[in-house]
Amino acid sequence: MSNNKKLYIKTYGCQMNVYDSERMAEALGASGYEQVEAPEGADMILLNTCHIREKAAEKIYSELGRYKGIKAENPDLKIGVAGCVAQAEGEEIMRRQPMVDLVVGPQTYHRLPEMMKQVEAGEKALDTDFPLEDKFEHLPERPLPRRAPSAFLTVQEGCDKFCAFCVVPYTRGAEVSRPPERILREARELVERGVKEINLLGQNVNAYNGGDWTLAQLIWALNDVDGLERIRFTTSHPNDMSDDLIAAHGECEKLMPYLHLPVQSGSDKVLKGMNRQHTAEHYIRLIERIRAARPDILISGDFIVGFPGEEDADFEATMDLIREVNYGQAYSFKYSARPGTPAAERSFVSAEVANARLQQLQALLTKQQRALQEAMVGQEVDVLFEKKGRLAGQMIGKSQHLHAVHVAGPDLQAGDIRRVRVINSETNSLGGELL
Ligand code: 5AD
Ligand code: SF4
Repeated sequence: MSNNKKLYIKTYGCQMNVYDSERMAEALGASGYEQVEAPEGADMILLNTCHIREKAAEKIYSELGRYKGIKAENPDLKIGVAGCVAQAEGEEIMRRQPMVDLVVGPQTYHRLPEMMKQVEAGEKALDTDFPLEDKFEHLPERPLPRRAPSAFLTVQEGCDKFCAFCVVPYTRGAEVSRPPERILREARELVERGVKEINLLGQNVNAYNGGDWTLAQLIWALNDVDGLERIRFTTSHPNDMSDDLIAAHGECEKLMPYLHLPVQSGSDKVLKGMNRQHTAEHYIRLIERIRAARPDILISGDFIVGFPGEEDADFEATMDLIREVNYGQAYSFKYSARPGTPAAERSFVSAEVANARLQQLQALLTKQQRALQEAMVGQEVDVLFEKKGRLAGQMIGKSQHLHAVHVAGPDLQAGDIRRVRVINSETNSLGGELL
């Protein structure tokens, strides 16, 4: 076994990639790779990539170009591409960028140690299978150093929805849920290592189907784990918001009052073109039921503007939906045609129109986010502290509604949960004082 080799991992894209990078680092740690913070001096550079929009994929090739100099200085340097660009482009990556030694898709990380042996022997290694075995079960047990207070835990992967714009069903494959007992075991291990908050991850997390367990049942079981204080989950699809999950938002004390529920558009015509299988009305009624269960819940969402066929009236319908729902937080994107998806064949909205719509939509979302933050001033919130702030003696944590809150508290430790009064609202955070 090679010892003390240096591994640099750069992660792009979603939270699931962050989780996967941690697990890859652990898998390679068992083969003698130690993670470092910079690419210079590394023996192995691994890019964990995102393919969701064109810009995300193009970034990978320009990043690889930047490693030419490092490779010239250290010809033994190995370079790997993991994640969804690896899945989507496969061998093409090695053709476009011959420096790349290894290409591994998101479902075969457990084969990395074997693949690294091949690479260390001077061969190229490529694996973009969708094997039947559970990749997480083949990864080594998580080592036991202490962890930051908030952790991700993947419970479900893949998507069967096939929204017309989206690559996820192709890059991550069909929906697969991990068995509940393995998730609970991993959760208990995380808590033993200092974790106070677990964020359950899945591309369609509320479609979780662990034998006869629903996501709500999994959340209730986690609610009984001593030492775990907070539970979150992301990302959900409106059509999988089951009654038991809505009820859990009102009844389960560790489940946080925050829900990321993307709608993408407020126009039924566009929703149909997107193959979303729900209407704007359906979404709005759903939000009403969720708010009836948990009145203070903060709703977050995703929007796409400039989807093929979107006309002014459709865009206005999206603006109306946003006004009706009132979002505390949101992500919005200009439509990006992804090769192989049905919408990529359709005629586009011009870039000028899409840019103008995006600006207008983001201005409205920002206004709503600010107003909600300002309404928090004067209120008391519970903050889970995570790390030091920019100023001396300052700590930053998250409120139950996922607002970043910074507080002066020289004695505060990461992992503390304290009552805080909000005293001001800034662009993307709140300021508070300990009570
Ligand atoms: N173009 C623009 N945005 C997209 N998203 C997914 N695919 C595309 C695309 N082709 C957005 C959706 C999704 C989020 C993760 O990314 O809003 O919810
Ligand atoms: Fe993509 Fe739609 Fe599946 Fe979400 S639900 S991952 S947007 S196909």
